[in-house]
Amino acid sequence: MRMIELIEKKKNGVELSDGEIAYFVEGYTKGEIPDYQAAALCMAIRFRGMSGRERAVLTDRMMRSGSTVDLSSLPHTVDKHSTGGVGDLTSLVVAPLAASCGLTMAKMSGRGLGHTGGTVDKLESIPGFRTALSEEEFLSQAKRIGMVLVGQTANLAPADKKLYALRDVTGTVDSLPLIASSIMSKKLAAGAESIVLDVKYGSGAFMKTEEDARALAEAMVDIGRANGRKMAALVTSMEFPLAPQIGNTLEVEEAVKILRGEDPAGWGVREVILRLTASLLSLSLGMDGDGAAKKAEDTLVSGAGYKKFLEWIAAQGGDVSYIEENRFERAGVKKVIVSPASGWLARMDTEAVGTAACLLGAGRMKLGDQPDLTAGIVLTCTPGGKLEKDQPIAEFYTSDEKKLADAEAVFLGSLGISDEKPILPKLIAGSVR
Ligand code: URA
Repeated sequence: MRMIELIEKKKNGVELSDGEIAYFVEGYTKGEIPDYQAAALCMAIRFRGMSGRERAVLTDRMMRSGSTVDLSSLPHTVDKHSTGGVGDLTSLVVAPLAASCGLTMAKMSGRGLGHTGGTVDKLESIPGFRTALSEEEFLSQAKRIGMVLVGQTANLAPADKKLYALRDVTGTVDSLPLIASSIMSKKLAAGAESIVLDVKYGSGAFMKTEEDARALAEAMVDIGRANGRKMAALVTSMEFPLAPQIGNTLEVEEAVKILRGEDPAGWGVREVILRLTASLLSLSLGMDGDGAAKKAEDTLVSGAGYKKFLEWIAAQGGDVSYIEENRFERAGVKKVIVSPASGWLARMDTEAVGTAACLLGAGRMKLGDQPDLTAGIVLTCTPGGKLEKDQPIAEFYTSDEKKLADAEAVFLGSLGISDEKPILPKLIAGSVR
């Protein structure tokens, strides 16, 4: 087999065979196929697309390029994946809710990059919390308390790691089959039998339109099913941040408030958490929609989810008294941001809000940066809310006063204030089952 033949075939819109896809993934991972030929094939895929069969095979081969996690000894294993967002703390709440309902969430999560946050960074803001566990610790904790969450191991889908880095510098990130196979190769390797996806669309998301998010959700659901998993997806809006606190410690604090029964008024985070939990229950236990929704809500309201959260933090070495005594630290320099005009908060460029939080120190501008876990933004305005000029709309927290000016300029540029009361997009735009 010769790589040039694969490139020519795909360039001309001809489907690749299973063997050809395997040859490409194995050859590229081993370094036998050079970057320039892999890049040419990615670009051909970017323009010609891939059939459902090609996507499923590509994902399967990428999954098998490294180690896979065997969760078969555990009951009702579930996973959730969000395509990334701002203020998206849902994993911190969905995981203990699911575990309280008898599911097993043994999960690998990522770190934040660019304007989006990552669950591993958020958890590391809890003193003592360990996000690297041995395989034995991982499995025994999952068995004992029904949940465990660690960072991605180095050998999880190495083909994807290499291909993603190549796509990043060759203009081939924005290809539906390549995004879908990249995400799903890691999810499948992580081993859960039931997977719920939260595919975001809007100004803070990868996919800018609801239509594109739905297409990505459908592609990923199909790939998961073709590889033997139970799959469902929600398509949710990231036209505004999901919750009002953006930053690592700030999002843990917000998650704890929700687990204790608070609902940040005007924000949709609680609704998304409950829908994701209910989807996991339906998928894994076969519960009907109403029953699953009630069970998810009861588990949150009764405090069972909060109790499980504390058990989880303790199991991974975290300081439970830090949570129980609300010792969440905010960075030392605070600035209150005021509204530049009167009107209604009709839009937010959510990517810009995430970037402003990064500029305050909360995120990474490049791989390897260490974020300031105490930095970030607390929004004191709400999506669609009425604003008066000079009314406080946000609090910025940073450890470096010099970071304030750039962050404020980006944040103010994100606001769309209108004279008329806006109609906001639906938070949960749809689902794929
Ligand atoms: N996230 C991934 O893991 N892969 C992509 O291709 C895009 C987003």
